[in-house]
Amino acid sequence: MSILSAALSRVQPSATIAATQKARDLKAAGRAIISLTIGEPDFDTPDNVKQAAIAAIIRGETKYTPVSGIVPLKDAIVKKFKRENGLDYKPSQVIVGTGAKHILFNAFLATINPGDEVIVPAPYWVSYPDIVAIADGVTKAVPTSMDNGFKLTAEALDQAITPKTKWLLLNSPSNPSGAAYTRAELKALTDVLLSHPHVWVMTDDIYEHLVYGDFEFTTPAQVEPALMERTLTINGVSKSYAMTGWRIGYAAGPAPLIKAMDMLQGQQTSGPCSIAQWAAVEALNGTQAFIPESRKVFEARRDLVVSMLNQTKYLKCPTPEGAFYVYPSIAEAIGRKTPEGRTIETDADFVEALLETGGVAVVQGSAFGLGPNFRLSYATATPVLEEACGLIQRFAASLR
Ligand SMILES: Cc1ncc(COP(=O)(O)O)c(C=O)c1O
Repeated sequence: MSILSAALSRVQPSATIAATQKARDLKAAGRAIISLTIGEPDFDTPDNVKQAAIAAIIRGETKYTPVSGIVPLKDAIVKKFKRENGLDYKPSQVIVGTGAKHILFNAFLATINPGDEVIVPAPYWVSYPDIVAIADGVTKAVPTSMDNGFKLTAEALDQAITPKTKWLLLNSPSNPSGAAYTRAELKALTDVLLSHPHVWVMTDDIYEHLVYGDFEFTTPAQVEPALMERTLTINGVSKSYAMTGWRIGYAAGPAPLIKAMDMLQGQQTSGPCSIAQWAAVEALNGTQAFIPESRKVFEARRDLVVSMLNQTKYLKCPTPEGAFYVYPSIAEAIGRKTPEGRTIETDADFVEALLETGGVAVVQGSAFGLGPNFRLSYATATPVLEEACGLIQRFAASLR
């Protein structure tokens, strides 16, 4: 009998972590590889945030905290939701976790009964279906298309809803496509939900601040206040303040749900790291100068990458509204051969050949539930991106 649980068989290893590791292994073996697989800003955490953490250590803020987070952080989160999203939450409606991923985990564990369905537009972040599966739920992936900007339509949502649907999980801007919903696009979705009162919305707004041009970020509870009572709004400091390693995420929603997640967390991780929580207080309450600075750099990189990929044979790359990913289609490369004589049958074949002969690591679209595409993260120094896109162009031109 295996020591491993049956539940574990429902979980896949993360494809993005696997791709990152493969690139690392090739590098360690002496190959020149540029890895564009990583999902974190390449900037350092802002100095004011680091200083707040140091000050917290010196003050002795080094003990267990309340399970759902320290009061000053919950207050900072309440203010953030008011200031940036026009949402009125009370501290009792807020929970802080060890990263947004932890929040997602506990939200599903606290609400899913076996067989409950979660609607997830595809392409989706690799972890969603696995987290839902661990909670014994069923992911109902709804494919989107490049023609409608990789966004779920009201009709597709309406058709996907069944009596077993518990959640619609939205992620805007999206990992992996970078697509972000306009207010009108969100309103079309929330209108559908108004006529299905058993369906709740979980919205993963972790890339909120990474939107470009004059795009205005909005979130479901803001667009449709009538849904406040069945919306869990998830966010965190990882991407907005280059704080991926600090592990602070948070959510706001109806108090009974937050209380259930608090109870679960109390039997699990307890409160997140005390020092990281004080750092997050400074991130949210202190100067916000880092946000427009990093946004400007990311926007210029997005424009560079989109332009270079659209000058690449067989690739089509839409311009995403946000995040730090592009999701080009490789449909025209399918069926072609590499100079070594290997036929590209899938996006995984393309990605593998690009890594092995082109020296660039990206992640195949099939890992995100929609292909043939690949995800390229442009959270890398601009000259490196330029070189990588040049290598992709050369690789694609070599296909026959
Ligand atoms: C869509 C999405 N949600 C959540 C997370 C995880 O965020 P955190 O670092 O706060 O756990 C990521 C990280 O890659 C992400 O891409």
